[in-house]
Amino acid sequence: MKNFKPSAEIKKLINSVKGEVSDSEGGFLYHTAKNVTGKKKGVIVEIGAWEGRSTVCLAQGSKDGSRARVFSIDYHQEGEDENPHDIYVKNLARSGVSDIVTHLCMTSEEASKGWDAPIEFLFIDGNHNYKFVKQDFELWSPFCVDGAIIAFDDSTYDGVKVFLPEVFNRGDYRALGIIDSITYIMKSREGSLLRTNYILLLNKAHDIARHISLPRPIRSIVKKLGQSVIQYIQ
Ligand SMILES: C[S@@+](CC[C@H](N)C(=O)[O-])C[C@H]1O[C@@H](n2cnc3c(N)ncnc32)[C@H](O)[C@@H]1O
Repeated sequence: MKNFKPSAEIKKLINSVKGEVSDSEGGFLYHTAKNVTGKKKGVIVEIGAWEGRSTVCLAQGSKDGSRARVFSIDYHQEGEDENPHDIYVKNLARSGVSDIVTHLCMTSEEASKGWDAPIEFLFIDGNHNYKFVKQDFELWSPFCVDGAIIAFDDSTYDGVKVFLPEVFNRGDYRALGIIDSITYIMKSREGSLLRTNYILLLNKAHDIARHISLPRPIRSIVKKLGQSVIQYIQ
């Protein structure tokens, strides 16, 4: 089991921005971005930033590591009473990470046109419907270098959980682990397929547990316990 535990400082950073990314997931994004080597000009790409909670984790990780550039893609559609784009820009500035992030304010499909940079870490957290997760993966994974990490957020959601097993059909990828609702994989033909199947099984168990209805206070205790067990047995 890898230790992606966020420090108190990183926890504070994560929680300074609204979003669904948990402390453990933020710790994973931070540590994985920090480990990006930047060699071969490999960059970090995220699809789906909303107000920038995941973005600040990736950006701070990169700043504390090799300073690989973070390309953060989100078309930022305006809601009724909020403008996620303005909030995102403010959040990045307040966190002191604007200098390392290039925001591509467009769809993932538009951003991929003309793209030619190698990617070392790809974080997919855009539209979770099957069609879009598949599209994001197919558009961006060809740019991932051998050994690149690809992380899928909300991997127990319908579209993601259906698409995820298909990724392994061609043999170019291996699953590495699960952090709360993120499943992360590596572009590699080496490594255990047994582990890949084990991680997929854990993701299924996580999904089943998510759908058990329990009263709220019990639910959050069971959720925490379940997540700790999944971390422990990986
Ligand atoms: C789940 S939210 C991202 C949450 C974010 N990672 C965080 O840490 O809070 C999904 C975001 O993806 C964006 N999105 C959805 N489909 C997209 C697409 N095809 N291209 C670009 N952005 C997309 C939405 O605008 C939304 O802000």
